[in-house]
Amino acid sequence: MEIQFVAASAATGPNTALARIVFEGEALDGALGQAAAASRFTGAKGQTLDILAPAGVDAARLVLVGAGKRDAFDALGAEHAAATAYSTVKLSGLETLRVETPNGDAELAARAALGLRLASYRFDKYRTKEPAEMKPSIRKAEVATTDPDGALAAFPPLAALADAVSFTRDLVSEPANVLYPAEFARRVKELERLGLEIEILGEAEMAALGMGSLLGVGQGSMRESQLVVIRWNGAADKDAQPVAFVGKGVCFDTGGISIKPAEGMEDMKWDMGGAGAVAGLMYALAARKAKVNAVGILGLVENMPDGNAQRPGDVVTSMSGQTIEVINTDAEGRLVLADAVWYCQDRFKPKFIVDLATLTGAIIISLGNDYAGLFSNNDELAGDLLAASGAEGEPLWRMPLPPAYEKQIESAIADMKNTGGRPAGSITAALFIQRFVNGTPWAHLDIASTAWKKGSTVPTTPDGATGFGVRLLNRMVQDKYEG
Ligand code: BES
Ligand code: MN
Ligand code: ZN
Repeated sequence: MEIQFVAASAATGPNTALARIVFEGEALDGALGQAAAASRFTGAKGQTLDILAPAGVDAARLVLVGAGKRDAFDALGAEHAAATAYSTVKLSGLETLRVETPNGDAELAARAALGLRLASYRFDKYRTKEPAEMKPSIRKAEVATTDPDGALAAFPPLAALADAVSFTRDLVSEPANVLYPAEFARRVKELERLGLEIEILGEAEMAALGMGSLLGVGQGSMRESQLVVIRWNGAADKDAQPVAFVGKGVCFDTGGISIKPAEGMEDMKWDMGGAGAVAGLMYALAARKAKVNAVGILGLVENMPDGNAQRPGDVVTSMSGQTIEVINTDAEGRLVLADAVWYCQDRFKPKFIVDLATLTGAIIISLGNDYAGLFSNNDELAGDLLAASGAEGEPLWRMPLPPAYEKQIESAIADMKNTGGRPAGSITAALFIQRFVNGTPWAHLDIASTAWKKGSTVPTTPDGATGFGVRLLNRMVQDKYEG
Protein backbone atom coordinates (compact mmCIF):
# COMPACT_ATOMS: atom_id res chain seq x y z
CA MET A 1 0.00 0.00 0.00
CA GLU A 2 1.24 3.44 -0.94
CA ILE A 3 1.39 5.88 1.99
CA GLN A 4 1.64 9.67 1.87
CA PHE A 5 1.76 12.27 4.59
CA VAL A 6 -0.41 15.24 3.70
CA ALA A 7 -1.24 18.57 5.31
CA ALA A 8 -4.35 18.53 7.46
CA SER A 9 -5.90 21.10 5.11
CA ALA A 10 -5.17 19.16 1.88
CA ALA A 11 -8.23 18.49 -0.26
CA THR A 12 -9.33 14.86 -0.55
CA GLY A 13 -9.48 13.19 -3.94
CA PRO A 14 -12.39 11.09 -5.27
CA ASN A 15 -13.13 7.62 -3.93
CA THR A 16 -11.82 8.50 -0.50
CA ALA A 17 -12.85 7.21 2.87
CA LEU A 18 -12.06 9.68 5.63
CA ALA A 19 -11.22 8.35 9.08
CA ARG A 20 -11.47 10.64 12.07
CA ILE A 21 -10.14 9.67 15.47
CA VAL A 22 -12.59 10.46 18.26
CA PHE A 23 -11.74 10.54 21.96
CA GLU A 24 -14.02 9.15 24.58
CA GLY A 25 -16.24 11.65 26.33
CA GLU A 26 -15.66 14.47 23.80
CA ALA A 27 -18.95 15.61 22.28
CA LEU A 28 -19.45 15.63 18.51
CA ASP A 29 -21.40 18.41 16.84
CA GLY A 30 -24.52 18.37 14.71
CA ALA A 31 -25.14 15.44 12.42
CA LEU A 32 -22.14 13.51 13.77
CA GLY A 33 -23.38 13.93 17.31
CA GLN A 34 -26.78 12.57 16.27
CA ALA A 35 -25.24 9.65 14.41
CA ALA A 36 -23.08 8.81 17.42
CA ALA A 37 -26.00 9.00 19.82
CA ALA A 38 -28.09 6.74 17.56
CA SER A 39 -25.35 4.09 17.50
CA ARG A 40 -24.00 4.06 21.06
CA PHE A 41 -20.72 5.42 19.72
CA THR A 42 -18.87 7.00 22.64
CA GLY A 43 -15.30 7.06 21.34
CA ALA A 44 -14.30 4.08 23.47
CA LYS A 45 -11.16 2.37 22.18
CA GLY A 46 -11.79 0.14 19.18
CA GLN A 47 -15.32 1.39 18.45
CA THR A 48 -16.09 2.42 14.90
CA LEU A 49 -18.97 4.25 13.26
CA ASP A 50 -19.06 4.05 9.48
CA ILE A 51 -21.41 6.57 7.88
CA LEU A 52 -22.05 8.42 4.65
CA ALA A 53 -20.02 11.59 4.79
CA PRO A 54 -22.34 14.42 5.91
CA ALA A 55 -22.62 17.66 3.95
CA GLY A 56 -19.45 19.70 4.21
CA VAL A 57 -17.13 16.67 4.53
CA ASP A 58 -15.32 16.06 1.27
CA ALA A 59 -15.26 12.26 1.15
CA ALA A 60 -17.38 9.31 0.07
CA ARG A 61 -17.56 7.89 3.57
CA LEU A 62 -16.65 8.97 7.03
CA VAL A 63 -15.42 6.52 9.64
CA LEU A 64 -15.25 7.59 13.24
CA VAL A 65 -12.71 5.56 15.17
CA GLY A 66 -12.85 5.51 18.95
CA ALA A 67 -9.45 5.94 20.60
CA GLY A 68 -10.32 6.05 24.30
CA LYS A 69 -9.39 8.95 26.55
CA ARG A 70 -7.33 11.72 24.94
CA ASP A 71 -4.69 11.88 27.69
CA ALA A 72 -4.03 8.12 27.40
CA PHE A 73 -3.59 8.32 23.61
CA ASP A 74 -0.09 7.28 22.58
CA ALA A 75 1.87 5.91 19.65
CA LEU A 76 0.31 2.46 19.94
CA GLY A 77 -3.11 4.12 20.10
CA ALA A 78 -2.36 5.93 16.82
CA GLU A 79 -1.28 2.66 15.19
CA HIS A 80 -4.36 0.84 16.38
CA ALA A 81 -6.77 3.60 15.38
CA ALA A 82 -5.34 3.79 11.86
CA ALA A 83 -5.33 -0.01 11.58
CA THR A 84 -8.96 -0.17 12.73
CA ALA A 85 -9.91 2.47 10.16
CA TYR A 86 -8.24 0.40 7.44
CA SER A 87 -10.03 -2.80 8.45
CA THR A 88 -13.37 -0.99 8.48
CA VAL A 89 -13.12 0.26 4.89
CA LYS A 90 -10.73 -2.14 3.20
CA LEU A 91 -13.54 -3.94 1.31
CA SER A 92 -15.61 -0.82 0.66
CA GLY A 93 -14.65 -0.50 -3.01
CA LEU A 94 -13.03 2.87 -2.29
CA GLU A 95 -9.41 3.33 -3.28
CA THR A 96 -8.04 5.86 -0.84
CA LEU A 97 -8.13 6.07 2.93
CA ARG A 98 -7.36 9.38 4.60
CA VAL A 99 -6.58 9.14 8.31
CA GLU A 100 -6.60 12.38 10.26
CA THR A 101 -4.10 12.28 13.12
CA PRO A 102 -5.56 14.13 16.05
CA ASN A 103 -2.69 16.53 16.66
CA GLY A 104 0.45 17.80 14.98
CA ASP A 105 2.80 15.24 16.46
CA ALA A 106 4.86 13.91 13.55
CA GLU A 107 5.78 10.77 15.49
CA LEU A 108 2.10 9.87 16.00
CA ALA A 109 1.43 10.36 12.29
CA ALA A 110 4.36 8.09 11.42
CA ARG A 111 3.10 5.47 13.85
CA ALA A 112 -0.38 5.69 12.29
CA ALA A 113 1.30 4.90 8.97
CA LEU A 114 3.04 1.90 10.56
CA GLY A 115 -0.37 0.73 11.77
CA LEU A 116 -1.70 0.94 8.22
CA ARG A 117 1.24 -1.03 6.85
CA LEU A 118 0.85 -3.79 9.44
CA ALA A 119 -2.93 -4.00 9.13
CA SER A 120 -2.89 -4.23 5.34
CA TYR A 121 -0.56 -7.25 5.26
CA ARG A 122 -2.09 -10.17 3.38
CA PHE A 123 -0.75 -13.57 2.30
CA ASP A 124 -2.72 -14.17 -0.88
CA LYS A 125 -0.18 -15.61 -3.31
CA TYR A 126 -1.97 -18.97 -3.53
CA ARG A 127 -5.43 -17.55 -4.20
CA THR A 128 -6.24 -17.73 -7.88
CA LYS A 129 -10.02 -17.38 -7.84
CA GLU A 130 -10.85 -14.82 -5.19
CA PRO A 131 -13.85 -12.72 -6.25
CA ALA A 132 -12.92 -9.08 -6.81
CA GLU A 133 -15.30 -7.87 -4.12
CA MET A 134 -13.48 -9.98 -1.53
CA LYS A 135 -10.17 -8.30 -2.27
CA PRO A 136 -9.18 -5.14 -0.39
CA SER A 137 -9.85 -2.11 -2.57
CA ILE A 138 -7.86 0.49 -0.62
CA ARG A 139 -4.60 1.02 -2.47
CA LYS A 140 -3.49 4.31 -1.11
CA ALA A 141 -3.43 5.84 2.33
CA GLU A 142 -2.95 9.47 3.27
CA VAL A 143 -2.04 10.35 6.81
CA ALA A 144 -3.06 13.93 7.47
CA THR A 145 -0.98 15.90 9.95
CA THR A 146 0.04 19.50 10.63
CA ASP A 147 3.66 18.37 10.15
CA PRO A 148 3.89 16.18 7.02
CA ASP A 149 7.63 16.80 6.62
CA GLY A 150 8.32 15.74 10.20
CA ALA A 151 6.20 12.60 9.74
CA LEU A 152 7.99 11.74 6.50
CA ALA A 153 11.34 12.14 8.24
CA ALA A 154 10.23 9.90 11.15
CA PHE A 155 8.81 7.16 8.92
CA PRO A 156 11.81 5.34 7.30
CA PRO A 157 12.82 3.24 10.34
CA LEU A 158 9.16 2.32 10.86
CA ALA A 159 8.75 1.43 7.17
CA ALA A 160 11.84 -0.78 7.55
CA LEU A 161 10.20 -2.43 10.54
CA ALA A 162 6.96 -3.01 8.62
CA ASP A 163 8.93 -4.59 5.76
CA ALA A 164 10.73 -6.80 8.26
CA VAL A 165 7.50 -7.93 9.94
CA SER A 166 6.04 -8.72 6.50
CA PHE A 167 9.16 -10.75 5.66
CA THR A 168 8.62 -12.81 8.83
CA ARG A 169 4.90 -13.20 8.20
CA ASP A 170 5.58 -14.46 4.67
CA LEU A 171 8.06 -17.06 5.93
CA VAL A 172 5.70 -18.26 8.65
CA SER A 173 2.70 -18.41 6.30
CA GLU A 174 4.40 -20.51 3.64
CA PRO A 175 3.42 -24.17 3.60
CA ALA A 176 6.14 -26.71 4.39
CA ASN A 177 6.25 -28.17 0.87
CA VAL A 178 7.47 -24.77 -0.27
CA LEU A 179 9.48 -23.60 2.74
CA TYR A 180 11.83 -26.40 3.80
CA PRO A 181 15.20 -25.70 5.44
CA ALA A 182 17.21 -25.06 2.25
CA GLU A 183 14.51 -22.80 0.80
CA PHE A 184 14.27 -20.86 4.08
CA ALA A 185 18.07 -20.43 3.99
CA ARG A 186 17.92 -19.31 0.36
CA ARG A 187 15.35 -16.63 1.13
CA VAL A 188 17.45 -15.37 4.00
CA LYS A 189 20.56 -15.39 1.81
CA GLU A 190 18.78 -12.87 -0.45
CA LEU A 191 18.98 -10.40 2.44
CA GLU A 192 22.63 -9.87 1.57
CA ARG A 193 21.20 -7.07 -0.57
CA LEU A 194 20.54 -5.19 2.68
CA GLY A 195 24.18 -5.51 3.72
CA LEU A 196 23.80 -8.58 5.96
CA GLU A 197 26.53 -11.24 5.94
CA ILE A 198 25.06 -14.71 5.66
CA GLU A 199 26.64 -18.14 6.06
CA ILE A 200 24.78 -21.40 5.52
CA LEU A 201 26.05 -24.59 7.15
CA GLY A 202 24.82 -27.96 5.86
CA GLU A 203 24.70 -31.32 7.60
CA ALA A 204 28.35 -32.22 6.91
CA GLU A 205 29.56 -28.99 8.50
CA MET A 206 27.27 -29.42 11.48
CA ALA A 207 28.42 -33.02 11.92
CA ALA A 208 32.03 -31.80 11.96
CA LEU A 209 31.06 -29.37 14.74
CA GLY A 210 29.49 -32.20 16.74
CA MET A 211 25.87 -31.01 16.56
CA GLY A 212 24.36 -34.43 17.25
CA SER A 213 21.34 -32.96 19.00
CA LEU A 214 20.15 -30.77 16.10
CA LEU A 215 21.07 -33.33 13.46
CA GLY A 216 19.13 -36.11 15.22
CA VAL A 217 15.92 -34.13 14.76
CA GLY A 218 16.39 -33.75 11.00
CA GLN A 219 17.65 -37.25 10.30
CA GLY A 220 14.25 -38.65 9.30
CA SER A 221 13.69 -35.95 6.69
CA MET A 222 14.48 -35.95 2.96
CA ARG A 223 15.30 -32.27 3.39
CA GLU A 224 18.77 -31.32 4.53
CA SER A 225 19.03 -29.52 7.88
CA GLN A 226 20.64 -26.09 7.78
CA LEU A 227 22.19 -23.69 10.24
CA VAL A 228 22.08 -20.09 9.07
CA VAL A 229 24.35 -17.44 10.57
CA ILE A 230 23.27 -13.86 9.88
CA ARG A 231 25.53 -10.97 10.83
CA TRP A 232 24.98 -7.24 10.93
CA ASN A 233 27.97 -5.12 11.88
CA GLY A 234 26.56 -1.63 12.18
CA ALA A 235 28.46 -0.44 15.27
CA ALA A 236 31.28 2.10 14.88
CA ASP A 237 33.63 -0.56 16.27
CA LYS A 238 33.18 -3.54 13.96
CA ASP A 239 34.83 -5.80 16.55
CA ALA A 240 32.54 -4.76 19.41
CA GLN A 241 30.88 -7.68 21.20
CA PRO A 242 27.59 -8.49 19.39
CA VAL A 243 24.09 -9.04 20.68
CA ALA A 244 22.72 -12.42 19.60
CA PHE A 245 19.41 -14.03 18.71
CA VAL A 246 18.69 -17.71 18.06
CA GLY A 247 15.53 -19.08 16.44
CA LYS A 248 13.87 -22.49 16.39
CA GLY A 249 13.17 -23.23 12.75
CA VAL A 250 11.28 -26.51 12.55
CA CYS A 251 9.87 -26.11 9.04
CA PHE A 252 7.40 -28.88 9.80
CA ASP A 253 6.88 -30.73 13.06
CA THR A 254 5.06 -34.03 12.64
CA GLY A 255 6.35 -35.05 16.06
CA GLY A 256 8.61 -37.63 14.39
CA ILE A 257 8.21 -41.22 15.60
CA SER A 258 6.32 -39.80 18.63
CA ILE A 259 3.86 -38.65 15.98
CA LYS A 260 1.24 -35.98 16.63
CA PRO A 261 -2.49 -36.58 16.11
CA ALA A 262 -3.82 -35.64 12.65
CA GLU A 263 -6.16 -32.96 13.92
CA GLY A 264 -4.46 -29.58 13.74
CA MET A 265 -1.14 -30.98 12.59
CA GLU A 266 -1.22 -28.55 9.66
CA ASP A 267 -0.47 -25.80 12.17
CA MET A 268 3.01 -27.22 12.53
CA LYS A 269 4.08 -25.47 9.33
CA TRP A 270 4.54 -22.43 11.58
CA ASP A 271 6.88 -24.23 13.95
CA MET A 272 9.65 -22.13 12.42
CA GLY A 273 8.17 -18.92 13.83
CA GLY A 274 11.16 -18.33 16.12
CA ALA A 275 13.63 -18.53 13.24
CA GLY A 276 11.25 -16.41 11.16
CA ALA A 277 11.26 -13.71 13.84
CA VAL A 278 15.06 -13.75 14.12
CA ALA A 279 15.36 -13.41 10.34
CA GLY A 280 12.87 -10.51 10.40
CA LEU A 281 14.72 -8.82 13.25
CA MET A 282 18.00 -8.97 11.32
CA TYR A 283 16.14 -7.58 8.32
CA ALA A 284 14.92 -4.64 10.42
CA LEU A 285 18.37 -3.92 11.88
CA ALA A 286 19.96 -3.88 8.43
CA ALA A 287 17.17 -1.97 6.69
CA ARG A 288 17.32 0.85 9.23
CA LYS A 289 21.12 0.66 9.50
CA ALA A 290 21.11 0.07 13.25
CA LYS A 291 24.32 1.11 15.01
CA VAL A 292 24.91 -2.24 16.60
CA ASN A 293 26.72 -5.51 15.96
CA ALA A 294 24.20 -8.35 15.94
CA VAL A 295 24.18 -12.05 15.16
CA GLY A 296 21.15 -14.14 14.26
CA ILE A 297 21.32 -17.93 14.21
CA LEU A 298 18.60 -20.08 12.66
CA GLY A 299 18.39 -23.81 13.38
CA LEU A 300 16.42 -25.17 10.41
CA VAL A 301 15.15 -28.77 10.33
CA GLU A 302 12.12 -30.85 9.41
CA ASN A 303 10.89 -33.35 12.03
CA MET A 304 9.59 -36.45 10.20
CA PRO A 305 8.86 -40.11 10.94
CA ASP A 306 10.93 -42.34 8.66
CA GLY A 307 12.99 -45.53 8.57
CA ASN A 308 15.98 -43.36 9.37
CA ALA A 309 14.24 -41.20 11.97
CA GLN A 310 15.46 -40.82 15.52
CA ARG A 311 13.74 -43.23 17.97
CA PRO A 312 12.43 -42.60 21.47
CA GLY A 313 15.19 -43.77 23.79
CA ASP A 314 18.02 -42.78 21.46
CA VAL A 315 20.92 -40.96 23.09
CA VAL A 316 22.53 -38.08 21.20
CA THR A 317 25.64 -36.05 21.96
CA SER A 318 25.30 -32.30 21.66
CA MET A 319 28.03 -29.89 20.54
CA SER A 320 28.49 -28.94 24.21
CA GLY A 321 29.52 -32.55 24.91
CA GLN A 322 26.45 -33.16 27.08
CA THR A 323 24.41 -36.24 26.21
CA ILE A 324 20.63 -36.30 25.87
CA GLU A 325 18.22 -39.21 26.10
CA VAL A 326 15.45 -38.51 23.59
CA ILE A 327 12.33 -39.69 25.43
CA ASN A 328 9.91 -38.03 23.03
CA THR A 329 10.88 -37.11 19.47
CA ASP A 330 8.16 -34.44 19.53
CA ALA A 331 10.17 -32.40 22.05
CA GLU A 332 12.48 -31.51 19.18
CA GLY A 333 12.70 -27.73 19.40
CA ARG A 334 14.87 -27.82 22.51
CA LEU A 335 17.18 -30.32 20.76
CA VAL A 336 17.65 -27.87 17.91
CA LEU A 337 18.20 -24.94 20.28
CA ALA A 338 20.69 -26.88 22.43
CA ASP A 339 23.20 -26.90 19.59
CA ALA A 340 22.27 -23.56 18.04
CA VAL A 341 22.53 -21.70 21.37
CA TRP A 342 25.81 -23.42 22.27
CA TYR A 343 27.30 -22.65 18.85
CA CYS A 344 26.24 -19.01 19.12
CA GLN A 345 27.82 -18.59 22.53
CA ASP A 346 30.97 -20.54 21.67
CA ARG A 347 31.71 -18.72 18.43
CA PHE A 348 30.51 -15.17 19.05
CA LYS A 349 30.87 -14.64 22.84
CA PRO A 350 27.85 -12.29 22.67
CA LYS A 351 26.69 -9.71 25.24
CA PHE A 352 23.53 -11.76 25.60
CA ILE A 353 21.51 -14.39 23.77
CA VAL A 354 17.75 -14.23 23.27
CA ASP A 355 16.23 -17.36 21.77
CA LEU A 356 12.75 -17.49 20.26
CA ALA A 357 10.83 -20.70 19.78
CA THR A 358 7.35 -22.07 19.27
CA LEU A 359 8.45 -24.50 21.93
CA THR A 360 5.55 -25.84 23.98
CA GLY A 361 1.80 -26.32 23.80
CA ALA A 362 1.93 -25.81 27.56
CA ILE A 363 2.67 -22.09 27.19
CA ILE A 364 -0.74 -21.72 25.49
CA ILE A 365 -2.32 -23.45 28.48
CA SER A 366 -0.44 -21.14 30.86
CA LEU A 367 -0.83 -17.79 29.13
CA GLY A 368 -3.49 -18.06 26.40
CA ASN A 369 -2.94 -16.47 23.00
CA ASP A 370 -1.89 -12.92 23.82
CA TYR A 371 1.25 -13.40 25.95
CA ALA A 372 4.50 -15.13 25.13
CA GLY A 373 6.48 -16.70 27.97
CA LEU A 374 9.74 -15.01 29.01
CA PHE A 375 12.37 -17.05 30.84
CA SER A 376 15.72 -15.55 31.78
CA ASN A 377 18.80 -16.05 33.93
CA ASN A 378 19.32 -12.27 34.06
CA ASP A 379 17.02 -9.68 35.62
CA GLU A 380 18.37 -6.75 33.62
CA LEU A 381 17.86 -8.50 30.29
CA ALA A 382 14.39 -9.63 31.38
CA GLY A 383 13.52 -6.06 32.43
CA ASP A 384 14.68 -4.64 29.09
CA LEU A 385 12.60 -7.20 27.20
CA LEU A 386 9.53 -6.43 29.28
CA ALA A 387 9.94 -2.68 28.72
CA ALA A 388 10.29 -3.12 24.95
CA SER A 389 7.37 -5.52 24.94
CA GLY A 390 5.06 -2.93 26.52
CA ALA A 391 6.14 -0.17 24.15
CA GLU A 392 5.55 -2.28 21.05
CA GLY A 393 2.37 -4.06 22.09
CA GLU A 394 3.90 -7.54 22.04
CA PRO A 395 3.08 -8.81 25.54
CA LEU A 396 5.46 -10.98 27.53
CA TRP A 397 4.97 -12.58 30.91
CA ARG A 398 7.98 -13.66 32.96
CA MET A 399 8.01 -17.26 34.09
CA PRO A 400 10.28 -18.83 36.74
CA LEU A 401 13.25 -21.19 36.30
CA PRO A 402 13.13 -23.10 39.61
CA PRO A 403 16.27 -25.22 40.20
CA ALA A 404 14.10 -27.78 42.01
CA TYR A 405 12.38 -28.67 38.72
CA GLU A 406 15.68 -29.77 37.19
CA LYS A 407 15.06 -33.23 38.57
CA GLN A 408 12.20 -33.65 36.10
CA ILE A 409 14.73 -33.79 33.26
CA GLU A 410 17.26 -36.11 34.87
CA SER A 411 17.95 -39.25 32.87
CA ALA A 412 18.94 -42.66 34.18
CA ILE A 413 21.45 -43.22 31.39
CA ALA A 414 22.48 -39.81 29.98
CA ASP A 415 23.20 -36.26 31.24
CA MET A 416 19.56 -35.30 30.77
CA LYS A 417 16.37 -36.32 29.01
CA ASN A 418 14.44 -34.13 26.61
CA THR A 419 11.05 -34.12 28.36
CA GLY A 420 10.06 -33.48 31.93
CA GLY A 421 6.48 -34.76 31.92
CA ARG A 422 3.28 -32.73 31.94
CA PRO A 423 3.74 -30.54 35.03
CA ALA A 424 5.34 -27.17 34.15
CA GLY A 425 6.04 -28.30 30.58
CA SER A 426 7.16 -24.87 29.39
CA ILE A 427 9.45 -24.41 32.40
CA THR A 428 11.22 -27.75 32.09
CA ALA A 429 11.72 -26.99 28.37
CA ALA A 430 13.36 -23.68 29.32
CA LEU A 431 15.47 -25.37 32.02
CA PHE A 432 16.66 -27.79 29.35
CA ILE A 433 17.83 -24.95 27.08
CA GLN A 434 19.48 -23.21 30.03
CA ARG A 435 21.81 -26.21 30.36
CA PHE A 436 23.40 -25.10 27.09
CA VAL A 437 24.04 -21.56 28.31
CA ASN A 438 27.37 -21.11 30.00
CA GLY A 439 27.24 -17.87 32.00
CA THR A 440 26.03 -15.65 29.14
CA PRO A 441 23.00 -13.48 29.98
CA TRP A 442 20.21 -15.35 28.27
CA ALA A 443 16.48 -15.11 27.71
CA HIS A 444 14.12 -17.58 26.09
CA LEU A 445 10.82 -16.48 24.55
CA ASP A 446 8.30 -19.29 24.14
CA ILE A 447 6.15 -17.88 21.33
CA ALA A 448 4.01 -20.98 20.65
CA SER A 449 1.14 -18.86 22.03
CA THR A 450 1.66 -15.79 19.86
CA ALA A 451 3.31 -16.69 16.52
CA TRP A 452 -0.01 -17.41 14.85
CA LYS A 453 -3.44 -15.87 15.49
CA LYS A 454 -6.88 -17.19 14.74
CA GLY A 455 -9.55 -14.57 15.39
CA SER A 456 -7.08 -11.79 16.10
CA THR A 457 -8.24 -8.95 18.32
CA VAL A 458 -5.23 -6.72 17.62
CA PRO A 459 -5.96 -4.44 14.63
CA THR A 460 -2.32 -4.36 13.48
CA THR A 461 -2.18 -8.17 13.41
CA PRO A 462 -4.43 -9.78 10.80
CA ASP A 463 -5.29 -13.46 11.28
CA GLY A 464 -2.43 -15.84 10.57
CA ALA A 465 1.26 -15.21 11.01
CA THR A 466 1.88 -12.35 13.44
CA GLY A 467 5.61 -11.73 13.18
CA PHE A 468 5.64 -11.64 17.00
CA GLY A 469 9.05 -10.78 18.42
CA VAL A 470 10.42 -8.67 15.58
CA ARG A 471 9.06 -5.43 16.98
CA LEU A 472 9.96 -5.98 20.58
CA LEU A 473 13.53 -7.10 19.88
CA ASN A 474 14.07 -4.29 17.39
CA ARG A 475 12.91 -1.88 20.07
CA MET A 476 15.12 -3.37 22.77
CA VAL A 477 18.18 -3.11 20.52
CA GLN A 478 17.28 0.45 19.55
CA ASP A 479 16.67 1.64 23.11
CA LYS A 480 19.58 -0.11 24.82
CA TYR A 481 22.35 -1.17 22.44
CA GLU A 482 22.82 1.53 19.84
CA GLY A 483 24.30 4.20 22.09
N1 BES B 1 6.07 -27.34 18.15
C1 BES B 1 5.56 -27.95 19.32
C2 BES B 1 4.92 -26.97 20.29
C3 BES B 1 3.65 -26.32 19.81
C4 BES B 1 2.42 -26.88 20.13
C5 BES B 1 3.68 -25.13 19.12
C6 BES B 1 1.26 -26.27 19.72
C7 BES B 1 2.51 -24.53 18.72
C8 BES B 1 1.30 -25.11 19.02
C9 BES B 1 6.70 -28.65 20.07
O1 BES B 1 7.71 -29.16 19.28
C10 BES B 1 6.09 -29.80 20.78
O2 BES B 1 5.63 -30.70 20.12
N2 BES B 1 6.09 -29.77 22.11
C11 BES B 1 5.52 -30.80 22.89
C12 BES B 1 6.50 -31.15 23.98
C13 BES B 1 6.17 -32.41 24.73
C14 BES B 1 6.34 -33.60 23.81
C15 BES B 1 7.09 -32.51 25.89
C16 BES B 1 4.21 -30.28 23.47
O3 BES B 1 4.13 -29.07 23.74
O4 BES B 1 3.28 -31.05 23.57
MN1 MN C 1 7.27 -31.11 18.57
ZN1 ZN D 1 8.01 -28.20 17.47
